[in-house]
Amino acid sequence: EKGGWSSFMVKEITEQPEAVAKTLLGRAVDGEVHLQELEAIGADALKDVERIVIVGAGTANYSGLLAKYAIEAWTRIPVEVELSHEFRYRDPILTPNTLVVSISQSGETMDTLMAVKYASENGARTLSICNTQGATIPRESDAVVYTHAGPEVAVASTKAFVAQVVALYLLGLHLATVRGSMSAAAIADVVEDLQQLPEQMETVLKQHETITQLAGWMADTRSVLFLGRHVGFPVALEGALKLKEIAYIHAEGFAAGELKHGPIALIEPGVPVFVVVPSPRDPDSLHKKVVSNIQEIRARGARVLVIAEQGDAAVLPYADVVIPVPLASKFMEPLLAVIPLQIFALELASAKGLDVDQPRNLAKSVTVE
Ligand code: M6R
Repeated sequence: EKGGWSSFMVKEITEQPEAVAKTLLGRAVDGEVHLQELEAIGADALKDVERIVIVGAGTANYSGLLAKYAIEAWTRIPVEVELSHEFRYRDPILTPNTLVVSISQSGETMDTLMAVKYASENGARTLSICNTQGATIPRESDAVVYTHAGPEVAVASTKAFVAQVVALYLLGLHLATVRGSMSAAAIADVVEDLQQLPEQMETVLKQHETITQLAGWMADTRSVLFLGRHVGFPVALEGALKLKEIAYIHAEGFAAGELKHGPIALIEPGVPVFVVVPSPRDPDSLHKKVVSNIQEIRARGARVLVIAEQGDAAVLPYADVVIPVPLASKFMEPLLAVIPLQIFALELASAKGLDVDQPRNLAKSVTVE
């Protein structure tokens, strides 16, 4: 079933353009977004949603953290993202106008299932984003939007992550449509951005060999840090999780703005730090701020590995390695930036001779609490 690939993980990383295209299929058409699946909740109920709470664990939690930026921007509905295993133990505030969105590749994660049951029992509406047809979590939810990433076998989630983010973006655009929070032209622009993603992802995948070399040089690394800001922050968290789970290397993701509030103390000569850099076209000048973070860590001897937009000259003087990604809009950038980090984890684990598909101590689906 690996179809000639050396691991399921490499196969699944390579399948990401297709996972995105299939998740968009029939849902984003002619510049509009329609999720028929949401009829189970009803247009009136969707108009009345006052708050969205996204629950998930691990990578699913990070896809929620990422999509929060876009859903809030597009719908102006407040979005909270919570680890599913924390949710029901803190007496969360739920009303019929709270939409609890659960995210799960397997649809069987016990922590997430219990969060969904708790949300239903306490009067919230529930929607599941799931990659496995007919799984328990969608069955327990009022509605389900399936990601069509295809079966994901490797323990480390890759294509399911990007498909989850795309499904959440579609949810945001559907809500924006029924609530009138975005113009038709603005929605059409985002649909176009989404439709360009598969091709842009193919471009990023072409850098696999370069990243393999980088990982090969770093096979003895003990610890790697990841920095990102705005939508780059969840990407940093995801890059660190991948490295922990399959390469057994200590890794931490930080919001770049948090550096001087503590983590910069970890920077010593030779420490590898991946930095996800926002586009220099960014109107909020976050690019400048992240470049100044890079200068700060570089001045302390960090080995700086930068993921930046193609042609970003500002990072060149301070980076040991630059991995370019194609020009994309703000909310699409993270879906490109995550790919080099997935490949890096895969290749570093391979360089250490580890089984990338079945890392120690982990199961693909965590069906116990
Ligand atoms: O099947 P789920 O999406 O509910 O699984 C959630 C997490 O267990 C999962 O994402 C885990 O963190 C992955 N191994 C990450 O690569």
